[in-house]
Amino acid sequence: MSALQSTADVAVVGLGRVGLPLALSFADRGLSVIGIDNAPARLGAVREGVMPFEETDAQALLDRVHANGRLTLSERAADAAQARHIVLTLGTPSFSHIEIDMREIRSALDDLLGSLAPGHSLILRSTVAPGTTEFVAGYLRKHRGFEIGEEVFVAHAPERIAAGRFIEEIDTLPCIVGGVGARSGEVVGELFGVFRAPIVQTTPVQAELAKIWANILRYTNFALPNLLMMDCERYDANVFEVIDLINRDYPRGGIAQPGLTAGTCLRKDFTFSEERSNAPGMLLAVSRVNESVPLFLLEGAKRRLGSLADRKVAVLGLAFKADTDDERDSLAHKLIRMLERELADVVVHDPHVATPTPSFEEAIDGADVVIVASNHSEFREPSALAKIVERSSGDCLVVDPWDCWGASQVFAYASELLALATPAQPLR
Ligand SMILES: NC(=O)c1ccc[n+]([C@@H]2O[C@H](COP(=O)([O-])OP(=O)(O)OC[C@H]3O[C@@H](n4cnc5c(N)ncnc54)[C@H](O)[C@@H]3O)[C@@H](O)[C@H]2O)c1
Repeated sequence: MSALQSTADVAVVGLGRVGLPLALSFADRGLSVIGIDNAPARLGAVREGVMPFEETDAQALLDRVHANGRLTLSERAADAAQARHIVLTLGTPSFSHIEIDMREIRSALDDLLGSLAPGHSLILRSTVAPGTTEFVAGYLRKHRGFEIGEEVFVAHAPERIAAGRFIEEIDTLPCIVGGVGARSGEVVGELFGVFRAPIVQTTPVQAELAKIWANILRYTNFALPNLLMMDCERYDANVFEVIDLINRDYPRGGIAQPGLTAGTCLRKDFTFSEERSNAPGMLLAVSRVNESVPLFLLEGAKRRLGSLADRKVAVLGLAFKADTDDERDSLAHKLIRMLERELADVVVHDPHVATPTPSFEEAIDGADVVIVASNHSEFREPSALAKIVERSSGDCLVVDPWDCWGASQVFAYASELLALATPAQPLR
């Protein structure tokens, strides 16, 4: 077995929303980095120095890294073996069978297998189902005979950063490291020690559980006010007033606000528990609540207006949450599909996403219904509501589960909302 002769400190395989900011951050801290992605468009953008997606301050980071020359690029996962540390930041979706889809990880592992040597460390930064890190270690042991934790190091160091906050949080969020065998945790902790955040050592499965359960907690926390919103409609109650009653000066309150809850992480991470659940269906029910919000909003509009056929419906927002350009797994798409099945004339506007959309004015002009699907800052401006009142049809129904304008109404007519609006609402 030949010893490791590395030409770079670290390789990051998968330059997506997690991998690219991470690769740039390593390079910015003085490490020599190989960034790997098999999508030519992604590599092309990075090579040209253009951030392919919105991430706060990442363009300036990319500019600095371009200038310092510490990032090289490749489309071949096997090239990662030129670095001492290999960080996998590949996609881990879930199959509709409620099971982790590990194809990207398996494919990269197979590409790398023949090139790994003693001294390498392999780090799973992707979100994975419990047991995956031990599986990866076992795979390397089985196919190459490595003693994991002594010769080759394997660990899970889950990405816990929220989109848009990478650069701030890489230095502040505790970095969990779950290493296999005697020394993997220590070796991988040293790598992530280039950032200022504390390193927290644990076992691989605890690292996996901590990551997915943080997202399960969040997903469930949003399902509760969403279910309450539906209950309030049934009982003719106001969800925002009930939430205020729950939370006001009550030390055991803390219920969140309603909204459309999905996105590429929350929508699937619960399945990594559900696939071997001790309470099968419990988290599926949480998912069903969040997934039924588009239908609830649509039905609520129909209850007030009758058929939506041939009515102009403006959908504001395509992104899965406020102030991001990430549309993956956004419930706005589901809402639009459902509205189209009602034969409504749907016009969408989103100021952030790469998908071209008509202007705000084009979307709201003469609209019978305006539905706020993403609570972008632009929509939360009082001037946006004023424009809706001015330009939509006289009796336009505004559907706003986010309470963008502080009017505390999920369903209200535009002119009513204007009278009820209060200044700047905190962002969920
Ligand atoms: N997006 C987030 O905010 C976030 C936050 C925390 C954790 N995560 C987790 O991090 C992981 C990555 O998420 P993401 O949003 O960056 O995914 P992504 O799909 O944006 O990025 C994956 C990248 O890997 C590339 N790729 C796929 N197969 C490849 C291969 N064989 N060789 C080289 N490149 C390959 C793709 O082209 C893509 O650019 C997932 O497990 C996700 O659940 C994401």
